[in-house]
Amino acid sequence: MKNIVIVVGTRPEVIKMAPVVMELRKSSTLKPILLSTGQHRQMLDQALKSFDLQPDFDLALMQPGQTLTELTARVLTSVGSFLVERKPDAILVQGDTTTVLASALAAAYARVPLGHVEAGLRTYNFDAPWPEEMNRRLTSPLCRWAFVPTEQSKANLLQEHIPSERCFVTGNTVIDALLWMRTRLESLRVDSVQLAQRLGIPDSFTGAYLTGSRKPWVLVTGHRRESFGQGFDSICQSLLRLAGEHPDLGILYPVHLNPNVREPVDRLLSKHNRIALIEPTGYEDFIWLMDRCKFIISDSGGVQEEAPSLGKPVLVMRETTERPEGVGAGTCRLVGTDPQRISVEARVLLENPSEYERRSALANPYGDGRAATRIREILEREMIRD
Ligand code: UD1
Ligand code: UDP
Repeated sequence: MKNIVIVVGTRPEVIKMAPVVMELRKSSTLKPILLSTGQHRQMLDQALKSFDLQPDFDLALMQPGQTLTELTARVLTSVGSFLVERKPDAILVQGDTTTVLASALAAAYARVPLGHVEAGLRTYNFDAPWPEEMNRRLTSPLCRWAFVPTEQSKANLLQEHIPSERCFVTGNTVIDALLWMRTRLESLRVDSVQLAQRLGIPDSFTGAYLTGSRKPWVLVTGHRRESFGQGFDSICQSLLRLAGEHPDLGILYPVHLNPNVREPVDRLLSKHNRIALIEPTGYEDFIWLMDRCKFIISDSGGVQEEAPSLGKPVLVMRETTERPEGVGAGTCRLVGTDPQRISVEARVLLENPSEYERRSALANPYGDGRAATRIREILEREMIRD
């Protein structure tokens, strides 16, 4: 058996690597070893629990208010030592976090072949998303296998002179995760009132929006570093304005644990009776919520990829995106963080039914739910050759 280390550090990495772990467990030639850097703590554990996963090793590196340099140094040193000690046959990273870049560098130093899941996404603007664009761009030349979600992401890598024999179009594993979780949700038969109580959603919100008359409500997430400070104040002002302009509208916002997010959100939004602020939710609960909202306002990468499968339009609180396919499909629209733009775009979704229908069409450009199977098959083939 060949040992493959699968590294996860944050919530989205767990969600998108879970299908890969489950697939590799089926292999008769490859053995997955799940390594957590613990870049996130509560949010990582919550996501692992959603998939009944436990890391084989946990480096537990998160510190409150961590800086990028400190975290990078800790991941590089700790993953580096792990690789030297364990000598795995390959290592897989996913996405664009500090865990990804520092682990990729550690792999290069330890001369362990690297696979990059969700490679090739680009904005070609180092400032947005920051530092994720930089993390992705620096990781690409280090990897032996680039598992790209779409033809567009492959074209990006070819343009950067990454050899085509290293690029494999697999689809995005987030679709595998989403389909897996939807099947699980069907068997769980979730009760709305119980779920709302478990998530700490106020009874008044539950009564108005999740049971009974089911008035329209918007699901919100946000955490991008380039929006910290002024951008987050503006995001909160946008939500207050929306609630003011639409007296029936509810807003449900699971607030990311980064203190740079929580401070402005608590300060500006906690008093409004139609804006419910809750803790980050488990993946199954978040899918349940996405399924029921009218539309989503978010700066999340993963949410942009999931929304087309759920038929939910997304107003993307960013000026640029490394995921242009969702914008092309009509589901996602870039709105930045300006209250006026967000107000205009939200009005279209709330008051123009034919446009709403058009933007909630069910077609996902990011994958068919078989990305992890393809990754397993490619690795089995490639590693026998080695
Ligand atoms: C990180 C990633 C970002 C990814 C996001 C997913 C980097 C540079 N950023 O951003 O690409 O989109 O995760 O959510 O890799 N915290 C907790 N508990 C947690 C998680 C975070 O308390 O479970 C707090 C801590 O104070 C921590 C801070 O949030 O120091 C920042 O966490 P960090 O992982 O550095 O950045 P994120 O903003 O979460
Ligand atoms: N998500 C979740 N609970 C939440 C908010 C989001 O499980 O409270 C999921 C969401 O469905 C998506 C992923 O987390 O799969 C996105 O994570 P995040 O926005 O933190 O990171 P990004 O995708 O922007 O890197």
